[in-house]
Amino acid sequence: MAQNWKQLEKDFIAKIESAEDLNSIENIRIELLGKKGQISSLMTQMKDVPKEDKKEYGMAVNGLKQLTESLIAQKIETLKEKQMLRQLQDDRIDITLPANRGKYGTLHPLTVVQQEIEDIFIGMGYAVVEGPEVELDLYNFERANIPADHPSRDMQDTFYVDVNRLLRTQTTAIQMRVLEKEHDILPIKVVCPGKVYRKDDDDATHSHQFVQVEGLVVGENITLGDLKGSLELLARSMFGNSREIRLRQSYFPFTEPSLEVDVSCHICGGKGCPTCKYTGWIEILGSGMVHPRVLEMANIDSKKYSGFAFGVGVERVAMLKYGVDDIRHFYANNIRFLDTFKRFE
Ligand code: DAH
Repeated sequence: MAQNWKQLEKDFIAKIESAEDLNSIENIRIELLGKKGQISSLMTQMKDVPKEDKKEYGMAVNGLKQLTESLIAQKIETLKEKQMLRQLQDDRIDITLPANRGKYGTLHPLTVVQQEIEDIFIGMGYAVVEGPEVELDLYNFERANIPADHPSRDMQDTFYVDVNRLLRTQTTAIQMRVLEKEHDILPIKVVCPGKVYRKDDDDATHSHQFVQVEGLVVGENITLGDLKGSLELLARSMFGNSREIRLRQSYFPFTEPSLEVDVSCHICGGKGCPTCKYTGWIEILGSGMVHPRVLEMANIDSKKYSGFAFGVGVERVAMLKYGVDDIRHFYANNIRFLDTFKRFE
């Protein structure tokens, strides 16, 4: 049986060459080299070849098989490379295009102000101490020298959990915990930030939940002068270097004397404007010398030691600083409102 080997070889080469992708070369491989493929069938036909021609026939088929195998292997490599190039081309990234920066947030203005206040006092060697929001009546009121019949214990003002537990109404509760815990390792110098709760109706200046930062210093020879110096520094750091402070007599059960602190208006510099209600002064915090009874209740000798304390409303400071006219803006989570604080960071 005569075979035109040259022609067969040409046909095979042409076929392999024609493959355009990995799929088609696989089909061609099956067609030529598969079990039922052309080369297999040439092998089977060997039995009909006259004995004297078998050797030559066999060599020719084998030659053709080897050639086909190596050409197909080469072709597969070439096609793989082509495919990879095409993929790279398709996935190309133009690194010169402007980046899509995405949208990232900003610290909440109350967090910013709280951290600013903390930082001022950390710089003066104070430690930051937190406490539980669900607090014992003992620390929130009793130890703060707020007797059972005091108006601020009224159910109107306080969210009670049960008879002994409540949502703390003031971070003064943390001070009382610190006094108890550290009464024998004086001096104490702490700032106590945290959320507090009151049964208030929400309006532009009141919220049933707000944030306070309190400070407490107890040691030997702590005077009103120390208090004034610390508060002056606080006022200037928050509202500008040229601010003055003014102390007014006030009443808090846990301090004696008690003082309300005004800062000269940062908007008009003291001349009078709507923000300071034309007085030139803005009230920013409550403070005083720790009441001797509060020290005694914590087993601290009030003859030997004295202390001062103050409490700042974070929302109030933030409203004054950034000119926010409604406290409720801080809790509404309106992104457009919150975004405006990016420029302050
Ligand atoms: N606890 C007071 C309040 O919530 C604020 C305050 C006043 C705290 C005087 C103090 C202080 O530590 O000394 O209204």
